[in-house]
Amino acid sequence: MRGNREQGVGSSVQKLKQLAAFGAMTATLILAGCRQDMQDEPKFFPQRGTNFYADGRSVRPQVENTVARNQLRENGYFYTGLINGKEGDGMPFPATLEVLERGQERYNVYCTPCHSRVGNGVGMIVQRGYMKAGNFNTVRLETAPLGHFFHVISNGYGAMPDYAAQIVPEDRWAIVAYIKALQLSQKATQADVPPGAHVEPLSSIAEREGLPASFADEWTLPPTAVTGTPDNGLYVLPMPAPAPSTNGEGSNSRPNATQPAGTPAGPREPQQSGVPKQ
Ligand code: HEC
Repeated sequence: MRGNREQGVGSSVQKLKQLAAFGAMTATLILAGCRQDMQDEPKFFPQRGTNFYADGRSVRPQVENTVARNQLRENGYFYTGLINGKEGDGMPFPATLEVLERGQERYNVYCTPCHSRVGNGVGMIVQRGYMKAGNFNTVRLETAPLGHFFHVISNGYGAMPDYAAQIVPEDRWAIVAYIKALQLSQKATQADVPPGAHVEPLSSIAEREGLPASFADEWTLPPTAVTGTPDNGLYVLPMPAPAPSTNGEGSNSRPNATQPAGTPAGPREPQQSGVPKQ
């Protein structure tokens, strides 16, 4: 009986040992199975849903009453150019010389291809057939509030695409200030400039420099220009006229090409609008 008991105790100890060994092995295997590599992270993938949230969206809406970094837009006018939904006037920060220089630089990068350096709307792309861009030297745009220009840059206008992605709000305002300077420069009088500075009409500069009198005219589109862009079907690629056998420069129809004095100016369209000339 005793011997039996001892044997019984001995075998249950062994069983326990076996069980423990089995348990340890199973645990090791299970734990090894739980290993999570970085390529298998519990993360959200762009454009993919999730069952973690009840609404199934992995892209979460902004938490109410919180402001994300760089999104504190307390000064609404600075970001929209609007005051109570209407275009406001004035700059949201002072237009210093530095601001104007920045505006000039950004304007020359982003706006001149269509609006030209003087803002008359006949930039190089327009001369090559793009729809005529706005002429800033018209009464309507000269009297437009500054917020209008900011709004146009931010949202586009008719055929003009918006430049919100390319130009940060601060630079948009700098451009707006520079456009105002461009407009004023077309009407400057001696009283507008500091003593010693000299205001001279473009026509007299043209005369002094021996440029054709037409140099100071409003630029007009060449006869080859058509209004429209390739996608609305109106655009016809302008074909250059066959070059004459002699030096063909005189037949160049570019209206604002600087031609040597005495060369007849290219064909011109009638003057547009009553914009005062210098
Ligand atoms: C790709 C050519 C193009 C570029 C670049 C361009 N514009 Fe324009 N813009 C146009 C055209 C075309 C119009 C006329 C749109 C219409 O009347 O449908 C226009 C019109 C405007 C107007 C007049 C809006 C009105 O009330 O009549 C303003 C102001 C203006 N652009 C500002 C700018 C500024 C500032 C830039 C540079 C940041 C710029 N544009 C760059 C093509 C361009």
